[in-house]
Amino acid sequence: MRRILLLNKILIIFIFIIIFCSCDSNTYSDNAVTEIKIGVFLYTKDDTFISTLQSNLEKAARNKEISDNLKIVINSFDGKGNQTVQNEQISKCLEQNYDVLCINLVDRTVAAPIVDKAKTADIPIVFFNREPVKEDIERWEKVYYVGADAKNSGEKQGEIVVDMYNSGKYNLDKNGDGKIQYVMLEGEQGHQDTLLRTEYAIKTITNAGIQLEKLATETANWQRSQGASKTSQFIEQFGDSIELVLSNNDDMALGAIDAFASENKKIPVILGVDCTTPAVEELRNGRLSGTVFGDFKGQAKSIIDLSCALALGKNPKEYVELENGRYVMHPYISVTMENLYKIDLK
Ligand code: BGC
Ligand code: CA
Repeated sequence: MRRILLLNKILIIFIFIIIFCSCDSNTYSDNAVTEIKIGVFLYTKDDTFISTLQSNLEKAARNKEISDNLKIVINSFDGKGNQTVQNEQISKCLEQNYDVLCINLVDRTVAAPIVDKAKTADIPIVFFNREPVKEDIERWEKVYYVGADAKNSGEKQGEIVVDMYNSGKYNLDKNGDGKIQYVMLEGEQGHQDTLLRTEYAIKTITNAGIQLEKLATETANWQRSQGASKTSQFIEQFGDSIELVLSNNDDMALGAIDAFASENKKIPVILGVDCTTPAVEELRNGRLSGTVFGDFKGQAKSIIDLSCALALGKNPKEYVELENGRYVMHPYISVTMENLYKIDLK
């Protein structure tokens, strides 16, 4: 009888252990991996720099999943260059269970109503690449910006010209009149990068004592095809007197190369900004003289780190380096064939 009682006790204890263990393993599988749902809104998918940034966001998210034991779901929306379309996409996501919205505005001047709606829904925002004004960022404490200092990119592009000129290896002043005759291809008007890249590229060159003569400036809206058609017009108007093409980004610079190539003209010094894959290819071919690396990899990592910190209610300061409380700004690097090997693009 005593033996049976003892056996019963052991059996009961054994059953308890099994139940306990199975409960524990259930709780473990439910709680161990926290899922973070991120909405990414692109001004258009049809932009080389933005699509590069987007693929780097995916890579950064996969790395973060491993390092922080998280599950990160990214849903991307193409604004198709239309703010009304983007507003609808954002409004829909604000009604769903998103943890954070990462927004590349179509029109960077209309952030205020978006911030107000996000505040009501208590869903934090990380704006990127197209920078809203400071007042809009400061409307709510859960609004941040990840990008780069536009002025710095202009300076870096200007420095390439200064270095080329001073090295004496490049004959920038082909007609020997003591000035560099240049044409400028500008991005979208009103974009922070357009204004400041143009201004500071020029300032950096002239402040170094190099004389410039502007032949023409045209906007080509960041696009390769427009860069090509605007450059064809320049070629028609100024022919061989173009000694330098400054472009606010790589795609328009590649358009300029297309135009010179299709007219069978000798390609002058052409400089872009971004360091996208097709631009690196032309750099290697010697048809693009230089570009400026707009750290898409670092920016993508910051967007993901910041988003996860906000989603988990952690202090962003511990995950990203903040300037003025709400800005993560990545430095630019001048790139030519001489230092291309040092740039970590993968
Ligand atoms: C990039 C451009 C891009 C634009 C889009 C800029 O920072 O240099 O290539 O088209 O952002 O907003
Ligand atoms: Ca000249």
